[in-house]
Amino acid sequence: MQLRFSPSMRSITISSTNGFLDLMKIKVAARYISYRTFFHFILFAAIFLPFFFIPAAMVTLERINANKCSSLDCLTGRRWGPGFLGGADDSARLVRELYKVLDQVNLEEIPDGDGMKAPESFNELLLDMKNNQYDAKTFAIRLKSTIENMDREIRKSRLAEQMHKHFAASAIPKGIHCLSLRLTDEYSSNAHARKQLTPPELLPLLSNNSHHHFIVATDNILAASVVVNSVLKSSSKPDKIVFHVITDRKTYAGMHSWFALHSVSPAVIEVKGIHQFDWLTRENVPVLEAIESHKGGVNLSDTPRFLASKLQARSPKYISILNHLRIYLPELFPNLNKVVFLDDDVVIQRDLSPLWDIDLGGKVNGAVETCKGEDGWVMSKHFKTYFNFSHPLIAKNLDPSECAWAYGMNIFDLAAWRKLASETPIIVG
Ligand SMILES: *[C@@H]1O[C@H](CO)[C@@H](O)[C@H](O)[C@H]1NC(C)=O
Ligand SMILES: *[C@@H]1O[C@H](CO)[C@@H](O)[C@H](O)[C@H]1NC(C)=O
Ligand SMILES: *[C@@H]1O[C@H](CO)[C@@H](O)[C@H](O)[C@H]1NC(C)=O
Repeated sequence: MQLRFSPSMRSITISSTNGFLDLMKIKVAARYISYRTFFHFILFAAIFLPFFFIPAAMVTLERINANKCSSLDCLTGRRWGPGFLGGADDSARLVRELYKVLDQVNLEEIPDGDGMKAPESFNELLLDMKNNQYDAKTFAIRLKSTIENMDREIRKSRLAEQMHKHFAASAIPKGIHCLSLRLTDEYSSNAHARKQLTPPELLPLLSNNSHHHFIVATDNILAASVVVNSVLKSSSKPDKIVFHVITDRKTYAGMHSWFALHSVSPAVIEVKGIHQFDWLTRENVPVLEAIESHKGGVNLSDTPRFLASKLQARSPKYISILNHLRIYLPELFPNLNKVVFLDDDVVIQRDLSPLWDIDLGGKVNGAVETCKGEDGWVMSKHFKTYFNFSHPLIAKNLDPSECAWAYGMNIFDLAAWRKLASETPIIVG
């Protein structure tokens, strides 16, 4: 920028270094020019001139890039006027075009089988664009598939996160694991922990049908203890209670130690490992194989509700044979007629003695239904929630809309069950 004073000091000319911006010519009478006026003028120039130069520089760059127009004349010819405004028009039009194409592509299905892998990140998309000079439509399609790809990845990792949380939550906590180990150790080192749980004189009670028999099947010692103690605490007739705790081989010693060291008197208790039931063999228990072949991956199109039930079905608790033992109760307890089966995640808060007075009217199982109630999440379970009705045997024998039931607490009439089983062959699917 130059500031030129005419020799007579009658005019001041401001120009850019290149001389093309000839914006201001101020004529002043030399003799009236005071230092004060001069100072104000300089200040004005310093503040406002940059605003003229910046747009000019932008226009220059734009032209150089767009039209390979490097001569300054090219710029001077169009400065401020139509050229500059025309640039704004162009970009607005471009944006409008882009919106239109994006909108169009949004409604279309992205061709899947065109052999082009969608970019997985913004950087990949940029690289892709540089290498392939796409037209607007293809660009929009690539953009859309990139975003969809990223979206899918996010959903995938959210699902994975949920899975990991679920497995972490359903794994055996270290404290409980340690408890089990210490009790097992106790079993081998402490004679008290090994003592017979049912004194010989009380053994007949284990199969005396005038007593109240509770069955708990679990590998969680603490849970078993909670169930047993809550039943006892709430019971009006604890001396009539007989507990049958069934556990797996690895927990047997620990479970036995716990109840040997923590008396349930005046009730009676026995602890049995599944290895102690001769009847439980692979031939008799087809469910053992079904359990082992149980599979099912995570599916991105699963609804959260479906995923939840899938996760539940896959958790160790449900895959364990202990969870399926109730199917074999008539065979496992051939001398008992009526039993209450308790899940290991219940805490009993009421006297359960009246359950033994219920007349099941020849039915096998009494339970709480899980389709009638306020809670839409818990109380929405029908047969179709649990059974695969594509299977012809299931479709033929069961009604998909029939109410399912909770098995936290079930009363079984084993005598009625044996009778029914002898009349109708059990379906094994
Ligand atoms: C079952 O127990 C009751 C009392 O608890 C007793 O009177 C009855 O004799 C017992 N029955 C058998 C078969 O031992
Ligand atoms: C996921 O579920 C959808 C619909 O529910 C089904 O079409 C698709 O085959 C499933 N994918 C896998 C891997 O199971
Ligand atoms: C349901 O049963 C049908 C017929 O037996 C079978 O083809 C299908 O794989 C089963 N679906 C599931 C999810 O097990």
